[in-house]
Amino acid sequence: MDLVERAADLLMASRLTIALTGAGISVESGIPDFRSAGGLWTKYDPSEYATIEAFVSNPEKVWEMLREMGEVVGNAIPNRAHIGLGELERLGYLHFVITQNIDNLHQAGGSRNVIEYHGNASTLSCLSCGRHYRSSDKASQYPPRCECGNILKPDVIFFGEAIPSEALSRSYELAQTAQAVFVVGTSATVSPANTIPSTAKRGGATIIEINKERTHLTDTITDIFLQGSAGTIVDEILNAVKRESAGSNVRL
Ligand code: APR
Repeated sequence: MDLVERAADLLMASRLTIALTGAGISVESGIPDFRSAGGLWTKYDPSEYATIEAFVSNPEKVWEMLREMGEVVGNAIPNRAHIGLGELERLGYLHFVITQNIDNLHQAGGSRNVIEYHGNASTLSCLSCGRHYRSSDKASQYPPRCECGNILKPDVIFFGEAIPSEALSRSYELAQTAQAVFVVGTSATVSPANTIPSTAKRGGATIIEINKERTHLTDTITDIFLQGSAGTIVDEILNAVKRESAGSNVRL
């Protein structure tokens, strides 16, 4: 049995399956990841553009990067990996997606149970007076300002900020009880998101890793490593699940 079929069998036998996704799942939608060659952090130094201190001290500079990211994300559409995870959820073989991404592509790809571990770029907040806005309401203003005059911050988690407490606790709870975890398109280098696979492993979960290259998880906790592009591999797993569930009574 090949690895894709083994992964499909695991999904069909698992009573609670979660996915942890990273920037790699959105690369085929045209959004560069952070740490691959040509990734965002090869162009912008994260210590100058991605920490909460950097934003507070020089929001105009950080908005240079945010504006470039926003234009790329704004034009992106879900790829076969997002759509495939959405279909696996619809078929009852995937229960939650915990994403480190802020691009809304899982929701656009059909996933309904999405936990946004690093927040979301569709809303903005004023660090001075606390007002909130929809990013779309400020799209014509650069950088976007609050009515109090301060430059607004997108509701994404910068280095040095806390993970939203609901996302943190719900993800930990799911990791402890999951039977299978899909780790898709993440270098698993940023904490605490990168503790989700090891927490699940300690709870007895099987780890299925999809990545175009090996990571530090691959030779430590990964049970099934599927090397290649997320879109192709998720599609192959979805098709294997559909073939096998057509052959047996479909669990819906
Ligand atoms: N298919 C599968 N995997 C891919 C693809 C692809 N098409 N393209 C890239 N990858 C893999 C890379 O090999 C890498 O292991 O996706 C991973 C992306 O890793 P990073 O760029 O580090 O992104 P991520 O893991 O999401 O970063 C985590 O770091 O900078 C912060 O907050 C930011 O959420 C981000 C966090």
